[in-house]
Amino acid sequence: MNRRQFGNLFLGGSFLATAAAFLFPIVRYVLPPKQAEASQKRVAAGKVKDFSPNSGKIFKFGSTPAMLVNTAEGQFLAFSAVCTHLTCTVTYDAASGTLYCPCHNGRFDMSGRVVAGPPPAPLEVYAVEVAGEDIFVSRKG
Ligand code: FES
Repeated sequence: MNRRQFGNLFLGGSFLATAAAFLFPIVRYVLPPKQAEASQKRVAAGKVKDFSPNSGKIFKFGSTPAMLVNTAEGQFLAFSAVCTHLTCTVTYDAASGTLYCPCHNGRFDMSGRVVAGPPPAPLEVYAVEVAGEDIFVSRKG
């Protein structure tokens, strides 16, 4: 190998290493890591004593946020907290008894159905199981 070949090889290798160092974080950002959804079928969402009537709390359901609501009537309901419009996180609006998305004023009723705003689909509704003081949430079906 002469000096010219060595120089070309060195410059080519440097260019490839620089390009890889630049592209790797972008690819990692665009393609999020796979989460093991199978292990997240049932999660402990909280304790009964932590929920006063007509209140809601965000909890983690796998890799996504979810909302557990204790209605004014004392019924526990759980929903995906990911808005179906542009994936903002919804909150519980105690004044209206609805789930509210602050990004574009989306609103969902206590069945997860869209009642106002741009969301194109209802929120996913989860099954709730109260076992003593513990509240467990799981996917339906
Ligand atoms: S992201 Fe929720 S209404 Fe737009």
